[in-house]
Amino acid sequence: MNERLKQLREEYAARVAQAADIEALEKYKVALLGRKGALTEILRGLSSLPIEERRTAGEAANKLRAEMEALIDAKTQELRVKALSHELTKSKVEISPLFAFPFPQGHYHPLRQTIDTICNIFRTLGFNLEVGPEIETDWYNFEALNIPKDHPARDTQDTFYIEGGNGRLLRTHTSPVQCHVMEKQQPPLRVIVPGRVFRNEATDASHSAIFHQVEGLAVDRHVTFADLKGIITLFVSRMFGSKLKLRFRPSHFQFTEPSAEVDVQCVMCGGRGCRVCKGSGWLEMLGCGMVHPNVFRAVNYDPEIYTGFAFGIGVERFAMIQYDVDDMRLFYENNLKFLRQF
Ligand code: DAH
Repeated sequence: MNERLKQLREEYAARVAQAADIEALEKYKVALLGRKGALTEILRGLSSLPIEERRTAGEAANKLRAEMEALIDAKTQELRVKALSHELTKSKVEISPLFAFPFPQGHYHPLRQTIDTICNIFRTLGFNLEVGPEIETDWYNFEALNIPKDHPARDTQDTFYIEGGNGRLLRTHTSPVQCHVMEKQQPPLRVIVPGRVFRNEATDASHSAIFHQVEGLAVDRHVTFADLKGIITLFVSRMFGSKLKLRFRPSHFQFTEPSAEVDVQCVMCGGRGCRVCKGSGWLEMLGCGMVHPNVFRAVNYDPEIYTGFAFGIGVERFAMIQYDVDDMRLFYENNLKFLRQF
């Protein structure tokens, strides 16, 4: 009996040690320890042995079984690790295009950069950033801003109306956000509002049906035109440098009274006259004025108590001046050769 066990052990220990894969191991395991396995047969045959022999043979057979099980488990583990590492080397994933150094670096669109520059200057002056909806009602875009129906001022802003939109329209300027803000907040308030605006205009080098504005509004007791001049002067000097002169030209907007347009000495030629300023030495910068009492009434502010100033900046104009770009359309074409210059 001992001889037979010894033989089995040698035979299977060698087979297990040389097993090439887990399937082969499984086969040996069944052949030795399975229901009809060699060792199982021996264990089953023990009962026919004389009693004193049965004990020692039983012990030896059970010991061999435990030993072989441990051997097979260890080998199984070893083969698994081998198979996994083989799998990993074989199926190398090509990751270099994903993680190539240096990372290609993107940046903000020049219009976004201009918007951020403008807004950040005002934020350091205590203005809060606000935004408003691009789809507006007639009330916010016109009526509340003192532009009644049939008023000729409407003709200056060719409007896109939304079909079946119940009079809704694409805002023609960011000024309606003034009214949204005043409805939500009580004075004192100072807000700066960037946004996209829409006009039904033919596109050319200096016009686009979609463009951007930054709106400003400050309301409190005793706000004066001098405050407006002070803030605008500070803004322009931070934006373009302090050496350039400003001039406030009387103008007209329905929602401000008095109204002004601000010109700055040409940033290109310093006022001598050049291609950019078309020889005049001045560049139009923005529209502004003191908030019209009718606008305050529309949002239930008492114009006897509060005064305020407002202004509107054309972002594309600023960007064209800032970056010396002579065709507005370049900003929208997303030609990478153009965009990468900024
Ligand atoms: N909303 C005017 C426009 O689109 C720009 C403007 C002018 C805004 C004067 C203002 C302002 O707030 O006071 O042409």
